[in-house]
Amino acid sequence: MLRFVVAIFLAAVGAFAADGPSSTIPPESITFNKDVLPILQKNCQGCHRPGQIAPMSFLDYQGTRPWAKAMKAAITSRKMPPWFADPNYGHFSNDRALKQSEIDTIVAWADGGAKEGDPKDAPPPAAWPADGWQIQPDYIVKGPRYDVPATGIMEWTNVVMPSGLTEDTWITSLEIKPSALQVTHHICIRFIAHTPDIKYGVPVWVDKQRDESGSELPRPKGERQQLPGVAGVAVDDRELRARSVNPGGLDGCYVPGLQAADYRVFNAAKLIPANSDIVFQLHYTAIGKPMTDEPEVGFTIAKEPPQRRFISYNTQPAVGTDSEVFRIPPNDGNWASPPAEILFNEDAQLVWMMPHMHLRGKDMTYRLEYPSGEQQIILNVPHYDFNWQLGYYTDIKVPKGSRMLVDAHFDNSPSNKFNPDPNRPVYYGDQTWEEMMAPFFGIVVDAKVDPKKVVTVKGTPGRGA
Ligand code: HEC
Repeated sequence: MLRFVVAIFLAAVGAFAADGPSSTIPPESITFNKDVLPILQKNCQGCHRPGQIAPMSFLDYQGTRPWAKAMKAAITSRKMPPWFADPNYGHFSNDRALKQSEIDTIVAWADGGAKEGDPKDAPPPAAWPADGWQIQPDYIVKGPRYDVPATGIMEWTNVVMPSGLTEDTWITSLEIKPSALQVTHHICIRFIAHTPDIKYGVPVWVDKQRDESGSELPRPKGERQQLPGVAGVAVDDRELRARSVNPGGLDGCYVPGLQAADYRVFNAAKLIPANSDIVFQLHYTAIGKPMTDEPEVGFTIAKEPPQRRFISYNTQPAVGTDSEVFRIPPNDGNWASPPAEILFNEDAQLVWMMPHMHLRGKDMTYRLEYPSGEQQIILNVPHYDFNWQLGYYTDIKVPKGSRMLVDAHFDNSPSNKFNPDPNRPVYYGDQTWEEMMAPFFGIVVDAKVDPKKVVTVKGTPGRGA
């Protein structure tokens, strides 16, 4: 919350300060302390500070000064800050995109010699939580230690850890913090009901049949999808879901660029029933040297039961993902995936969306169809970039009887610079060179509503990040 408040406060200050340069203030009087730092605090330091994903810190003048010219290039090309929502649709409370006046300020500062200015003009340092957290957790659960080798493919691995929460607990924010960001492709968690057969700390995965390029060989038709198990035995997705204490699949994820899930912004909370266990779904990518990751999960905890409940969902195409349906042809630059389809059985408030695809992901569009038949695009990401997994926070009333449809396109042509091989068909799969069409979303409902009945996700709900 602190971060959110700081952001709003600085937004006001920033807008005020940024009006000057393009009008009255001569460029040479623009300084880091007075004009630039407020913008960095609001739009950049979330990633550009120690312990976060950006390689350099913009907390102070010394660290920032050498980057002045690079900043100018990165912001005028809109490469930074990363933000992919088409401004023609929707309103997003975490919109990091710079205003034109802010771009003008930083450009003028870089052009005018990148002066430091008077320290007395500097705003107070933004209050970032310690130890690289985005939230200030009330409670921290240690995750499993994972040794990532220098090379090789690591299948998704599940490890169960105890939550240590012996009473029903309403959490108001959730953050997963890996220690080795360079190798962490994603970590997702789900809360499951404890059963006596569960073994803590035991990594479980399934060695998949893969061809020489690393792509998973299509499974014989009709075979149930085996996923890494929770209790030392492989279980399939349905069983894992049946053990989940919350509907909607995963309860939280770390993916590069994603902000911590903060339900306080929506005045809502999420319930973790007493004695739940936490399944860590781990996916690492080797980077040529061995690394060890020791992730943690932090929560803030509600003082009293909330009025409103937050629920997150991960979905996939309604028709399923088997290789006859989900097959991106070689050299196809604009393959349309079958849509994901979600029905709202209760009034709800849609508060969060996160498009997820892999290297061939091109665009994703979320659409609402109201009971009247009227349609509205609520998020359009026209140029998806796998390197940035961004969540878009919004606030849309969705009446009971509405439908949400999500469409996506994939680029399996050579003009997609991330495409590892345009000459092969691409199927649904866990690895980045396979594909996913996985629109995540989050809703808030009255805490009295049965969470399991709020929405119907058509087809099989999604596998995750
Ligand atoms: C969501 C996290 C995030 C935010 C917010 C963010 N950055 Fe970055 N930035 C990164 C990461 C990660 C890199 C390194 C990888 C890359 O260049 O894509 C980077 C790289 C850069 C670079 C080097 C670019 C290059 O071409 O080498 C500059 C300059 C930069 N950022 C400036 C900014 C500025 C200025 C802001 C705010 C207006 C900002 N960034 C906001 C994550 C972020």
